Amino acid sequence: MKLTTPVIIVNLKTYKESMGDKAVKLAAMADEVSNETGVCIALAPQFTDLHRVATSSEVPVFAQHIDSVTPGRGTGSILAEAAIEAGAIGTLLNHSEYQLKLADLEASLVRAKEVGLKVCVCSNNQAVSGAAAALGPTFIAVEPPELIGTGIPVSKTQPEVVTATVETIQRINPNVIPICGAGISTGEDVAAALQLGTQGVLLASGVTKAKDPKKVLLDMATHAK
Ligand code: G3P
Repeated sequence: MKLTTPVIIVNLKTYKESMGDKAVKLAAMADEVSNETGVCIALAPQFTDLHRVATSSEVPVFAQHIDSVTPGRGTGSILAEAAIEAGAIGTLLNHSEYQLKLADLEASLVRAKEVGLKVCVCSNNQAVSGAAAALGPTFIAVEPPELIGTGIPVSKTQPEVVTATVETIQRINPNVIPICGAGISTGEDVAAALQLGTQGVLLASGVTKAKDPKKVLLDMATHAK
C-alpha cells in the first residue's frame, strides 16, 4: 500500500513481541487491516527485520533511524542507501529513545532526502517541532516522553501539546505533516488525535504488547476513516 494519510505508524521498537517472526506476523495483520479499511498502516521494524517485513508484506516500511554516513568506511552505521535497498520507504529520526543533536539530525535528514526516503522526525515539544519543521521532513511526530509506553494517550491528556505543534508546523512549514504519539492505544485515541488537526499517529506498545494486535489495529483504522 502507498503511504497515505491519515496514517498509523507502528514503531516495533526493540520489543521481543515485535521482532523476527513476530514482526512478519504483525506486518501480515497490518496488511489485512489496511486492505479491509483502506487506511494506511506503516511499520518501523528493527533494522535487522526491515528486509523481511518489507518483502513479506505490502505495508510501507520505515527504518527506526539512519545515520548521515555516505557509502564507504562507516562500520556500524546505518546507511541511507542500505535502508532503501532493504525495502524501506522512510525513516524515523530523533526518536525520544534515539535523540540526535540538531546538526546530526539535519545531516541524516539530508541523506534521507538524497536517496528518496520519507522522514518522520520525532519531537518532544513545540520548540523542537519548530526547529524540525524548518528542516522540512515529511512528518513531525510530537511525543511527550513521559507518556511513552504508559497507555496514557497524548491526544486526550495533553491535547494542548498536540495543537501547539500543529500550529507551529503550519506557521513554519505547512508542507510538513503533523502527527502525534505516546500512549495511543485505542481507536478513540486515534480519533482524538485527528480531531486535534494531526494527520495520523505514531505508536508502539498499544499494538506490539496487545493480546490481540489485529483487533487493536482494526479499531484504530476504523476510527481513522
Ligand atoms: O514511537 C512511538 C512511541 O514512542 C510511542 O510509544 O508505546 O507510547 O505508543 P507508545
